[in-house]
Amino acid sequence: MENQHIIVRVATPDDIHYSNTITDEMESSAKARGTGIAKRSPDYVELKMNEGKAVIAVTDKGEWVGFCYIEAWGHEKFVANSGLIVNPAFRGHGVAKSIKKRIFELSREKYPDAKIFGLTTGLAVMKINSELGYEPVTYSELTDDEEFWKGCRSCVNFDILTAKERKNCLCTAMLYNPLEKLKEAEEKAMADKAPVPEPQPQPQLSVSASGHMHHARRRRRFKGNIKLYERWLRFKRFVLLKSKKEGGATGSKKKFFLF
Ligand SMILES: CC(C)(COP(=O)(O)OP(=O)(O)OC[C@H]1O[C@@H](n2cnc3c(N)ncnc32)[C@H](O)[C@@H]1OP(=O)(O)O)[C@@H](O)C(=O)NCCC(=O)NCCS
Repeated sequence: MENQHIIVRVATPDDIHYSNTITDEMESSAKARGTGIAKRSPDYVELKMNEGKAVIAVTDKGEWVGFCYIEAWGHEKFVANSGLIVNPAFRGHGVAKSIKKRIFELSREKYPDAKIFGLTTGLAVMKINSELGYEPVTYSELTDDEEFWKGCRSCVNFDILTAKERKNCLCTAMLYNPLEKLKEAEEKAMADKAPVPEPQPQPQLSVSASGHMHHARRRRRFKGNIKLYERWLRFKRFVLLKSKKEGGATGSKKKFFLF
């Protein structure tokens, strides 16, 4: 890859000749990683290119480098970014980061009010998402659009997803909520304008006259912590695959509660 310039841009119909290379690489990478993945056909990749809902990375010499696409769900209330793949010859140089940044911008341009999300088993992707402002969420915070979840049928872990009643699986869900981000930005702007108050001790728990305990509700604020993500992924794999081996995916006696 020496002396090659990499271009990251929205894919166009002129890129459809890359579709087979892309889907072949998706499949062989999933096999090599030993993880599940929803299968994509070259036709589907071409559709995304034709719709202007994909980002591609290529060298100035025309070699394929990477790919990702978006799909809107639940009457455009949600937009998922999926199918991130980087040519093995170009990994470790920030290509995935650039593609994910561009796909995030594309999602915001096309669906400015939608919540953006992705499902992943990859540490690299969790790291990139976290830097872009996504936060880990439970599956219940994602779209309930049946068509989206149908995409998981071709994944080897679909039986786990079904056994867990779609509440959990090996993938971690990460979501960017534009409304929440806007609120945070407004609160920050207000706080920046306000005079600096004297620091006061803030009790987390208080007991009212009636004897009820009140818990000071804190906003969810997940700071990207890669070690934590790594442990989380290992834990998930351990629990869910163990449960599957023991017949859990189709109804184990042992119950594991995650999230
Ligand atoms: C995962 C993948 C997309 C990463 O592509 P890439 O271009 O090598 O990633 P980048 O160079 O942009 O790396 C982004 C960040 O992730 C880190 N990273 C990359 N690969 C990693 C790995 N295997 N484990 C942990 N961190 C990793 C990088 O260090 C970088 O962090 P930094 O900015 O702090 O240095 C690529 O390896 C791939 O295509 N894998 C197969 C398909 C896949 O797993 N897709 C994701 C499905 S959700």
